[in-house]
Amino acid sequence: MRIAVFSTKPYDQSALDRANEAHGHDLTYFEHRLSPSSIPLVEDFDAVCPFVNDELSDGVIERLSDAGVRLLTLRSAGFNHVDLRAAERHGIAVARVPAYSPHAVAEHAMALILTLNRKLHRAYARVREGNFSLDGLLGFDLHGKTVGVIGTGKIGTVFCKILAGFGCRILATDPVPNEEARRAGAEYVDLDALLASSDIIALHLPLTPETYHLIDAEALARMSDGVMLINTSRGALVDTPAVIAGLKSGRIGALGLDVYEEEADLFFEDLSNSVIQDDIFARLLTFPNVLITGHQGFFTREAVANIAETTLANATAFETGEGPFHRVALEDVTP
Ligand code: NAI
Repeated sequence: MRIAVFSTKPYDQSALDRANEAHGHDLTYFEHRLSPSSIPLVEDFDAVCPFVNDELSDGVIERLSDAGVRLLTLRSAGFNHVDLRAAERHGIAVARVPAYSPHAVAEHAMALILTLNRKLHRAYARVREGNFSLDGLLGFDLHGKTVGVIGTGKIGTVFCKILAGFGCRILATDPVPNEEARRAGAEYVDLDALLASSDIIALHLPLTPETYHLIDAEALARMSDGVMLINTSRGALVDTPAVIAGLKSGRIGALGLDVYEEEADLFFEDLSNSVIQDDIFARLLTFPNVLITGHQGFFTREAVANIAETTLANATAFETGEGPFHRVALEDVTP
Protein backbone atom coordinates (compact mmCIF):
# COMPACT_ATOMS: atom_id res chain seq x y z
CA MET A 1 0.00 0.00 0.00
CA ARG A 2 1.02 3.61 -0.47
CA ILE A 3 1.21 4.94 3.07
CA ALA A 4 1.75 8.55 4.20
CA VAL A 5 3.48 8.42 7.57
CA PHE A 6 3.08 11.58 9.67
CA SER A 7 4.95 12.99 12.68
CA THR A 8 8.00 10.90 11.92
CA LYS A 9 11.36 11.22 13.61
CA PRO A 10 14.53 9.43 12.50
CA TYR A 11 13.91 6.65 15.05
CA ASP A 12 10.42 6.03 13.58
CA GLN A 13 11.78 5.88 10.06
CA SER A 14 14.51 3.40 10.86
CA ALA A 15 12.12 1.10 12.78
CA LEU A 16 9.51 1.27 10.01
CA ASP A 17 12.11 0.73 7.25
CA ARG A 18 13.37 -2.35 9.08
CA ALA A 19 9.86 -3.77 9.58
CA ASN A 20 8.89 -2.92 6.00
CA GLU A 21 11.52 -5.30 4.59
CA ALA A 22 8.96 -8.04 5.26
CA HIS A 23 5.89 -6.07 4.13
CA GLY A 24 7.00 -4.13 1.07
CA HIS A 25 4.69 -1.13 1.44
CA ASP A 26 5.48 2.16 -0.25
CA LEU A 27 6.18 4.48 2.70
CA THR A 28 6.48 8.27 2.44
CA TYR A 29 7.64 10.04 5.59
CA PHE A 30 6.49 13.47 6.68
CA GLU A 31 7.98 15.17 9.71
CA HIS A 32 4.89 17.39 10.00
CA ARG A 33 1.96 16.58 12.15
CA LEU A 34 -1.23 15.70 10.32
CA SER A 35 -3.53 18.72 10.55
CA PRO A 36 -5.78 20.71 8.21
CA SER A 37 -2.71 22.58 6.95
CA SER A 38 -0.70 19.45 6.09
CA ILE A 39 -3.54 17.57 4.37
CA PRO A 40 -2.48 18.80 0.91
CA LEU A 41 0.53 16.47 1.33
CA VAL A 42 -1.84 13.49 1.18
CA GLU A 43 -2.17 12.84 -2.52
CA ASP A 44 -2.31 9.37 -4.04
CA PHE A 45 -2.07 7.48 -0.78
CA ASP A 46 -4.16 4.44 0.21
CA ALA A 47 -3.43 4.83 3.89
CA VAL A 48 -2.29 7.36 6.45
CA CYS A 49 -0.17 6.43 9.45
CA PRO A 50 -0.54 8.98 12.24
CA PHE A 51 0.95 9.29 15.74
CA VAL A 52 -0.67 10.33 19.02
CA ASN A 53 -0.79 14.10 18.50
CA ASP A 54 -1.93 14.10 14.87
CA GLU A 55 -5.36 15.58 14.30
CA LEU A 56 -7.99 13.19 13.02
CA SER A 57 -11.07 15.34 13.44
CA ASP A 58 -14.20 15.07 11.35
CA GLY A 59 -12.95 17.74 8.93
CA VAL A 60 -9.54 16.12 8.47
CA ILE A 61 -11.06 12.67 7.95
CA GLU A 62 -13.50 14.00 5.38
CA ARG A 63 -10.63 15.48 3.39
CA LEU A 64 -8.58 12.28 3.69
CA SER A 65 -11.56 10.36 2.34
CA ASP A 66 -11.88 12.81 -0.56
CA ALA A 67 -8.18 12.20 -1.28
CA GLY A 68 -8.84 8.44 -1.57
CA VAL A 69 -7.50 7.27 1.80
CA ARG A 70 -9.11 4.00 2.94
CA LEU A 71 -7.13 3.16 6.06
CA LEU A 72 -5.75 4.88 9.14
CA THR A 73 -3.07 2.64 10.60
CA LEU A 74 -2.27 4.22 13.97
CA ARG A 75 1.21 3.91 15.49
CA SER A 76 -0.33 3.87 18.96
CA ALA A 77 -2.50 1.91 21.35
CA GLY A 78 -4.60 4.98 22.26
CA PHE A 79 -7.13 6.18 19.67
CA ASN A 80 -8.71 9.11 21.51
CA HIS A 81 -7.34 11.46 18.81
CA VAL A 82 -9.49 9.84 16.09
CA ASP A 83 -13.10 10.77 15.37
CA LEU A 84 -14.27 7.18 14.89
CA ARG A 85 -17.79 8.25 13.96
CA ALA A 86 -16.40 10.35 11.09
CA ALA A 87 -14.13 7.49 10.00
CA GLU A 88 -17.08 5.12 9.87
CA ARG A 89 -19.22 7.66 7.99
CA HIS A 90 -16.50 8.14 5.39
CA GLY A 91 -15.75 4.43 5.06
CA ILE A 92 -12.19 4.69 6.39
CA ALA A 93 -11.03 1.71 8.45
CA VAL A 94 -9.01 2.40 11.60
CA ALA A 95 -6.41 0.03 13.03
CA ARG A 96 -4.14 0.41 16.05
CA VAL A 97 -1.33 -1.33 17.87
CA PRO A 98 -3.20 -2.81 20.83
CA ALA A 99 -0.12 -4.00 22.70
CA TYR A 100 3.53 -3.49 21.96
CA SER A 101 5.21 -3.56 25.32
CA PRO A 102 3.15 -2.97 28.41
CA HIS A 103 6.47 -3.29 30.24
CA ALA A 104 7.81 -0.10 28.64
CA VAL A 105 5.07 2.13 30.09
CA ALA A 106 4.73 0.29 33.41
CA GLU A 107 8.49 0.50 33.98
CA HIS A 108 8.44 4.21 33.11
CA ALA A 109 5.67 4.78 35.67
CA MET A 110 7.88 3.10 38.27
CA ALA A 111 10.86 5.21 37.14
CA LEU A 112 8.81 8.35 37.79
CA ILE A 113 7.85 7.08 41.27
CA LEU A 114 11.41 6.17 42.23
CA THR A 115 12.84 9.42 40.88
CA LEU A 116 10.26 11.60 42.61
CA ASN A 117 10.46 9.71 45.88
CA ARG A 118 14.26 9.72 46.17
CA LYS A 119 14.54 13.13 44.41
CA LEU A 120 17.00 11.76 41.86
CA HIS A 121 16.23 14.64 39.46
CA ARG A 122 17.47 17.07 42.09
CA ALA A 123 20.31 14.89 43.37
CA TYR A 124 21.70 14.52 39.85
CA ALA A 125 21.91 18.28 39.36
CA ARG A 126 23.30 18.90 42.83
CA VAL A 127 26.12 16.38 42.64
CA ARG A 128 27.22 17.70 39.26
CA GLU A 129 27.56 21.12 40.87
CA GLY A 130 29.61 19.73 43.76
CA ASN A 131 26.69 20.09 46.20
CA PHE A 132 26.55 16.95 48.33
CA SER A 133 24.01 18.22 50.84
CA LEU A 134 21.10 15.87 51.54
CA ASP A 135 18.72 18.62 52.69
CA GLY A 136 15.42 18.26 50.87
CA LEU A 137 16.22 14.81 49.47
CA LEU A 138 14.44 12.76 52.15
CA GLY A 139 12.32 9.99 50.64
CA PHE A 140 10.29 7.11 52.06
CA ASP A 141 10.41 3.31 51.83
CA LEU A 142 8.15 2.13 49.04
CA HIS A 143 7.90 -1.18 50.86
CA GLY A 144 4.59 -1.33 52.71
CA LYS A 145 3.10 1.76 51.03
CA THR A 146 -0.34 1.64 49.43
CA VAL A 147 -0.46 2.24 45.71
CA GLY A 148 -3.77 2.78 43.91
CA VAL A 149 -3.84 1.61 40.31
CA ILE A 150 -6.69 3.03 38.23
CA GLY A 151 -7.07 0.75 35.22
CA THR A 152 -5.66 -2.77 35.29
CA GLY A 153 -5.51 -3.63 31.62
CA LYS A 154 -2.25 -4.64 29.98
CA ILE A 155 -0.09 -1.85 31.41
CA GLY A 156 -1.80 -1.59 34.79
CA THR A 157 -1.43 -5.32 35.37
CA VAL A 158 2.31 -5.31 34.60
CA PHE A 159 2.58 -2.30 36.90
CA CYS A 160 0.85 -4.28 39.70
CA LYS A 161 3.45 -7.02 39.31
CA ILE A 162 6.27 -4.47 39.60
CA LEU A 163 4.64 -3.01 42.72
CA ALA A 164 4.35 -6.49 44.19
CA GLY A 165 8.12 -6.86 43.80
CA PHE A 166 8.60 -3.70 45.84
CA GLY A 167 6.40 -5.04 48.64
CA CYS A 168 3.63 -2.47 48.14
CA ARG A 169 0.00 -2.92 49.11
CA ILE A 170 -1.94 -2.65 45.86
CA LEU A 171 -5.45 -1.24 45.54
CA ALA A 172 -7.02 -1.31 42.10
CA THR A 173 -10.14 -0.12 40.39
CA ASP A 174 -11.37 -1.20 36.98
CA PRO A 175 -14.85 -2.04 35.66
CA VAL A 176 -13.28 -5.27 34.37
CA PRO A 177 -11.12 -6.74 37.15
CA ASN A 178 -8.10 -8.69 36.02
CA GLU A 179 -7.21 -12.09 37.49
CA GLU A 180 -3.50 -11.62 36.80
CA ALA A 181 -3.52 -8.34 38.73
CA ARG A 182 -5.37 -10.10 41.55
CA ARG A 183 -2.73 -12.83 41.58
CA ALA A 184 -0.07 -10.10 41.87
CA GLY A 185 -1.84 -8.99 45.04
CA ALA A 186 -4.21 -6.27 43.78
CA GLU A 187 -7.28 -5.79 45.91
CA TYR A 188 -10.19 -4.33 43.92
CA VAL A 189 -12.00 -1.47 45.62
CA ASP A 190 -14.18 1.38 44.35
CA LEU A 191 -12.63 4.61 43.17
CA ASP A 192 -13.51 6.50 46.35
CA ALA A 193 -11.81 3.94 48.59
CA LEU A 194 -8.75 3.91 46.32
CA LEU A 195 -8.47 7.71 46.34
CA ALA A 196 -8.86 7.90 50.12
CA SER A 197 -6.39 5.15 51.04
CA SER A 198 -3.50 5.42 48.56
CA ASP A 199 -0.09 6.96 49.20
CA ILE A 200 0.55 6.84 45.45
CA ILE A 201 -2.04 6.86 42.66
CA ALA A 202 -1.20 5.79 39.11
CA LEU A 203 -3.45 6.17 36.08
CA HIS A 204 -3.45 3.33 33.54
CA LEU A 205 -6.82 3.78 31.87
CA PRO A 206 -7.79 5.16 28.47
CA LEU A 207 -9.10 8.65 27.81
CA THR A 208 -12.78 8.52 26.89
CA PRO A 209 -15.63 11.00 27.36
CA GLU A 210 -16.34 9.22 30.69
CA THR A 211 -12.76 9.42 31.99
CA TYR A 212 -12.06 13.01 30.86
CA HIS A 213 -10.77 14.97 33.90
CA LEU A 214 -11.27 11.95 36.16
CA ILE A 215 -8.77 13.62 38.46
CA ASP A 216 -10.36 16.99 39.16
CA ALA A 217 -10.69 19.20 42.26
CA GLU A 218 -13.37 16.91 43.68
CA ALA A 219 -11.25 13.77 43.24
CA LEU A 220 -8.23 15.55 44.73
CA ALA A 221 -10.30 16.52 47.77
CA ARG A 222 -10.88 12.80 48.42
CA MET A 223 -7.15 11.92 48.36
CA SER A 224 -4.90 11.86 51.38
CA ASP A 225 -2.53 14.75 52.02
CA GLY A 226 0.82 14.49 50.29
CA VAL A 227 -0.32 11.85 47.77
CA MET A 228 1.96 11.12 44.82
CA LEU A 229 0.07 11.20 41.50
CA ILE A 230 1.45 9.50 38.38
CA ASN A 231 -0.07 9.85 34.91
CA THR A 232 1.49 7.99 32.00
CA SER A 233 -1.82 7.47 30.18
CA ARG A 234 -3.37 10.56 28.62
CA GLY A 235 -3.08 14.19 29.70
CA ALA A 236 -6.78 14.98 29.73
CA LEU A 237 -7.46 12.38 32.42
CA VAL A 238 -6.24 15.12 34.74
CA ASP A 239 -7.58 18.66 35.21
CA THR A 240 -4.22 20.45 35.28
CA PRO A 241 -5.29 23.73 36.98
CA ALA A 242 -6.89 21.64 39.77
CA VAL A 243 -3.65 19.69 40.11
CA ILE A 244 -1.65 22.92 40.33
CA ALA A 245 -3.95 24.06 43.15
CA GLY A 246 -3.37 20.66 44.80
CA LEU A 247 0.40 21.09 44.54
CA LYS A 248 0.20 24.58 46.05
CA SER A 249 -1.92 23.40 48.99
CA GLY A 250 0.24 20.31 49.61
CA ARG A 251 -2.60 17.88 48.88
CA ILE A 252 -0.36 16.54 46.12
CA GLY A 253 3.10 15.77 47.51
CA ALA A 254 4.62 14.80 44.17
CA LEU A 255 3.47 14.69 40.58
CA GLY A 256 4.91 12.57 37.77
CA LEU A 257 3.60 13.13 34.27
CA ASP A 258 4.51 11.56 30.95
CA VAL A 259 1.50 13.13 29.26
CA TYR A 260 -0.13 16.55 29.31
CA GLU A 261 -3.51 17.69 28.06
CA GLU A 262 -2.04 20.30 25.71
CA GLU A 263 1.07 18.29 24.80
CA ALA A 264 0.41 18.44 21.06
CA ASP A 265 2.03 21.88 20.84
CA LEU A 266 5.03 20.89 22.95
CA PHE A 267 6.05 17.28 23.02
CA PHE A 268 8.34 15.48 20.57
CA GLU A 269 9.97 18.77 19.48
CA ASP A 270 13.14 20.57 20.57
CA LEU A 271 11.76 23.86 21.88
CA SER A 272 14.84 24.72 23.93
CA ASN A 273 15.38 27.94 21.97
CA SER A 274 11.75 29.05 22.20
CA VAL A 275 9.65 30.70 24.84
CA ILE A 276 6.97 28.34 26.11
CA GLN A 277 3.62 30.05 25.63
CA ASP A 278 1.57 27.63 27.72
CA ASP A 279 1.43 29.29 31.16
CA ILE A 280 -0.16 26.28 32.85
CA PHE A 281 2.62 23.99 31.67
CA ALA A 282 5.23 26.61 32.57
CA ARG A 283 3.80 26.79 36.11
CA LEU A 284 4.07 23.01 36.45
CA LEU A 285 7.76 23.21 35.61
CA THR A 286 8.42 25.51 38.59
CA PHE A 287 7.57 22.94 41.29
CA PRO A 288 10.50 21.01 42.77
CA ASN A 289 8.23 18.01 43.34
CA VAL A 290 6.99 17.74 39.75
CA LEU A 291 8.71 15.56 37.18
CA ILE A 292 7.57 15.69 33.57
CA THR A 293 8.75 13.56 30.70
CA GLY A 294 7.62 14.20 27.13
CA HIS A 295 5.48 11.14 26.34
CA GLN A 296 8.40 8.72 26.35
CA GLY A 297 6.76 5.87 28.26
CA PHE A 298 6.54 3.78 25.09
CA PHE A 299 10.08 4.60 24.03
CA THR A 300 12.08 1.39 24.38
CA ARG A 301 13.83 -0.51 21.59
CA GLU A 302 11.42 -3.40 21.98
CA ALA A 303 8.29 -1.26 21.92
CA VAL A 304 9.37 0.87 18.95
CA ALA A 305 10.16 -2.26 16.91
CA ASN A 306 6.82 -3.86 17.85
CA ILE A 307 4.90 -0.68 16.99
CA ALA A 308 6.50 -0.55 13.53
CA GLU A 309 5.79 -4.23 12.88
CA THR A 310 2.12 -4.18 13.98
CA THR A 311 1.43 -0.89 12.18
CA LEU A 312 2.62 -2.32 8.88
CA ALA A 313 1.09 -5.75 9.54
CA ASN A 314 -2.29 -4.01 9.97
CA ALA A 315 -1.84 -2.43 6.52
CA THR A 316 -0.88 -5.81 5.04
CA ALA A 317 -3.90 -7.51 6.62
CA PHE A 318 -6.19 -4.75 5.37
CA GLU A 319 -4.82 -5.12 1.84
CA THR A 320 -4.64 -8.92 1.61
CA GLY A 321 -7.30 -10.01 4.12
CA GLU A 322 -4.69 -12.24 5.73
CA GLY A 323 -3.25 -12.02 9.22
CA PRO A 324 -4.62 -10.17 12.25
CA PHE A 325 -6.12 -6.73 11.63
CA HIS A 326 -6.44 -4.75 14.87
CA ARG A 327 -9.49 -2.77 13.97
CA VAL A 328 -10.76 0.05 16.17
CA ALA A 329 -14.52 0.21 15.97
CA LEU A 330 -17.09 2.63 17.29
CA GLU A 331 -18.39 -0.01 19.67
CA ASP A 332 -14.96 0.04 21.38
CA VAL A 333 -15.87 3.44 22.81
CA THR A 334 -19.65 3.42 22.80
CA PRO A 335 -20.96 0.37 24.65
P1 NAI B 1 -5.90 -1.54 28.15
O1 NAI B 1 -7.04 -1.28 27.23
O2 NAI B 1 -5.22 -2.86 28.15
O3 NAI B 1 -6.36 -1.25 29.67
C1 NAI B 1 -7.12 -0.14 30.05
C2 NAI B 1 -7.91 -0.56 31.27
O4 NAI B 1 -8.59 0.59 31.78
C3 NAI B 1 -9.01 -1.62 30.96
O5 NAI B 1 -8.87 -2.73 31.82
C4 NAI B 1 -10.30 -0.86 31.21
O6 NAI B 1 -11.34 -1.71 31.70
C5 NAI B 1 -9.85 0.15 32.25
N1 NAI B 1 -10.76 1.28 32.42
C6 NAI B 1 -11.55 1.88 31.49
N2 NAI B 1 -12.27 2.86 32.09
C7 NAI B 1 -11.94 2.85 33.39
C8 NAI B 1 -12.34 3.62 34.51
N3 NAI B 1 -13.26 4.61 34.41
N4 NAI B 1 -11.80 3.34 35.72
C9 NAI B 1 -10.89 2.35 35.85
N5 NAI B 1 -10.44 1.61 34.82
C10 NAI B 1 -10.97 1.84 33.62
O7 NAI B 1 -4.86 -0.37 27.86
P2 NAI B 1 -3.30 -0.37 28.18
O8 NAI B 1 -2.55 -0.95 27.05
O9 NAI B 1 -3.06 -0.89 29.55
O10 NAI B 1 -3.01 1.20 28.15
C11 NAI B 1 -3.53 2.10 29.13
C12 NAI B 1 -3.36 3.51 28.63
O11 NAI B 1 -1.96 3.83 28.61
C13 NAI B 1 -3.77 3.71 27.14
O12 NAI B 1 -5.14 3.99 27.04
C14 NAI B 1 -2.94 4.87 26.71
O13 NAI B 1 -3.68 6.05 26.91
C15 NAI B 1 -1.74 4.86 27.66
N6 NAI B 1 -0.48 4.63 26.98
C16 NAI B 1 0.54 5.53 27.17
C17 NAI B 1 1.76 5.36 26.56
C18 NAI B 1 2.90 6.29 26.79
O14 NAI B 1 3.87 6.29 26.01
N7 NAI B 1 2.89 7.09 27.83
C19 NAI B 1 1.98 4.24 25.63
C20 NAI B 1 0.87 3.30 25.55
C21 NAI B 1 -0.33 3.52 26.19
